[in-house]
Amino acid sequence: MDKTSTPLQPVQHIHELRAARAMLGEPLGFVPTMGYLHEGHLSLVRRARQECASVVVSIFVNPTQFGPNEDFKKYPRDLAKDSSYLERAGVDCLFYPVAEDVYPPGYRTYVEVHGLQDRLCGKSRPGHFRGVATVVLKLFNIVQPDRAFFGAKDAQQVLIIERMAKDLNLGVEVVTCPLIREADGLALSSRNAYLSSEERRAALVLSKSLRAAEEMVRAGERDPSKVVAAMRSMIKAEPTARVDYIEAVDPLNLDPVAELRGEVLVALAVFIGSTRLIDNIRIRV
Ligand code: PAJ
Repeated sequence: MDKTSTPLQPVQHIHELRAARAMLGEPLGFVPTMGYLHEGHLSLVRRARQECASVVVSIFVNPTQFGPNEDFKKYPRDLAKDSSYLERAGVDCLFYPVAEDVYPPGYRTYVEVHGLQDRLCGKSRPGHFRGVATVVLKLFNIVQPDRAFFGAKDAQQVLIIERMAKDLNLGVEVVTCPLIREADGLALSSRNAYLSSEERRAALVLSKSLRAAEEMVRAGERDPSKVVAAMRSMIKAEPTARVDYIEAVDPLNLDPVAELRGEVLVALAVFIGSTRLIDNIRIRV
């Protein structure tokens, strides 16, 4: 379903989005983002463009998913550049609300996805997935998409959104798209912009350790603790790197696995200097 004719319609206010939404064809595809767009985001947009009659992208740096000492204030922003990418990608509507409209004074309602939100990234970022689930539910209610597109880069996030969509009968089909990497293996992330050139080189240790894990499994290793230990020692050899977590879990419920069999999600978060990066790989044993 190709569309190149009509220009991108940027809207800031919720009532404007609702009016624009009413004019758009169905099925409507939705790609929520925090902006500073890269090829990872654009791969979701292209997928939505291919599969849907109309596409809405949101850009909102959501304050409720950042901890008090995290990078909310310095999170990179470039709305002009993002708009030009989205225009070229044939997106119908860009929704870029302000925090005062999304969370007006007196705001009190939050969504929690118990048992999934406290694992992996949730352990070191308490409240993060409560903020993510809440804003995504709000965006779904505002945009009313048929399908919403998320990246496998944030494996825990997609699982939580899928669970929420099922549990709350949202009627939105959640589509998971592949993780996009640089040619050298680094997973694309808006936060890569924080890295110095030395850190950018050091950051390769995330994807390298995941590939090493995959090779160990391919060579017959079935003990997750050995695989995690090997990854940990590779990362330790990189002076600017500090492991937040490395885990081998069941991709369906994020439970740690005692033995590597079936489908396994190996996920990690590593600080490179002060920048926290995540990456993951799904291994079919
Ligand atoms: P953001 O980090 O901007 O990511 C927006 C979407 O792009 C997410 O679905 C994410 O998984 C996907 N994405 C990012 N990097 C990717 C990569 N290298 N390959 C494939 N997909 C990639 O995730 C968020 O924003 C927020 O938490 C949000 C869902 C918008 C809620 O605020």
